[in-house]
Amino acid sequence: MGSESEKGREEEEEEDIVCLDESFFVNDDYQLTTFTFGSNVLELYCLQSASTDFDLTGQLVWPGAMLMNRYLSDNADILQGCSVLEFGSGVGITGVLCSKFCRKVVFTDHNDEVLKILKKNIELHEHSSPSAELEAAKLEWGNTDHLGEILQKHCDGFDLILGADICFQQSSVPLLFDSVEQLLRIRGHGNCKFILAYVSRARQMDSAIMKEGSQHGMLMNEVPGTRCTVGNLEGVIFEITLK
Ligand SMILES: C[S@@+](CC[C@H](N)C(=O)[O-])C[C@H]1O[C@@H](n2cnc3c(N)ncnc32)[C@H](O)[C@@H]1O
Repeated sequence: MGSESEKGREEEEEEDIVCLDESFFVNDDYQLTTFTFGSNVLELYCLQSASTDFDLTGQLVWPGAMLMNRYLSDNADILQGCSVLEFGSGVGITGVLCSKFCRKVVFTDHNDEVLKILKKNIELHEHSSPSAELEAAKLEWGNTDHLGEILQKHCDGFDLILGADICFQQSSVPLLFDSVEQLLRIRGHGNCKFILAYVSRARQMDSAIMKEGSQHGMLMNEVPGTRCTVGNLEGVIFEITLK
């Protein structure tokens, strides 16, 4: 049996325990927002500023998505009739643009909260692209079970793999390239490419993506004329294929 003073201490400690469930950190005050890329006007639900949780980056539209969507909108012929898988879709602004031109778009993300708003945005656009097959799937980079489930359904792979502003955490880059390589190898050389809208935030990351590409047997081609300033940062489009 504890002494009176021990009991008192325990009671004080209990009073100190702060109970916050994860919803405390999640801002889900999404606003319907209009984005224009050339002649393509898209409306999507997104946040205007970030939640406090670092992992909720996908609730916002990032500069890399602006770069990617401008590039795709100016070069929509590369999307025409294609099947696409997008990595780290966030609210889905890139996949939604693709749905105007592609026959199939598989939007992916690893975060359950992000997947909720992504699905809502897909529903919002389903009726305006009735001929395109649209789907959201959970995919954590490097998770072979997640990718395996997607490939069970889409066993021919995809014509295009897309990623907008998804290289910002160095530890996840090798895993991202593992999954990209797996998808590129289904189609083999020349039949599938990975379009990466890269935004440079750190020199280390600039060299990490080139190193990963090379270690995964890929050619990293900078698309001429795409290097530009996006949101005060330097961005560029890479077209990545197997060597
Ligand atoms: C910076 S946001 C970019 C979102 C969107 N592509 C854009 O440009 O607006 C990065 C996205 O990648 C997702 N993500 C981050 N790490 C991931 C991982 N290891 N596996 C899968 N998705 C990841 C995040 O949930 C988020 O949606």
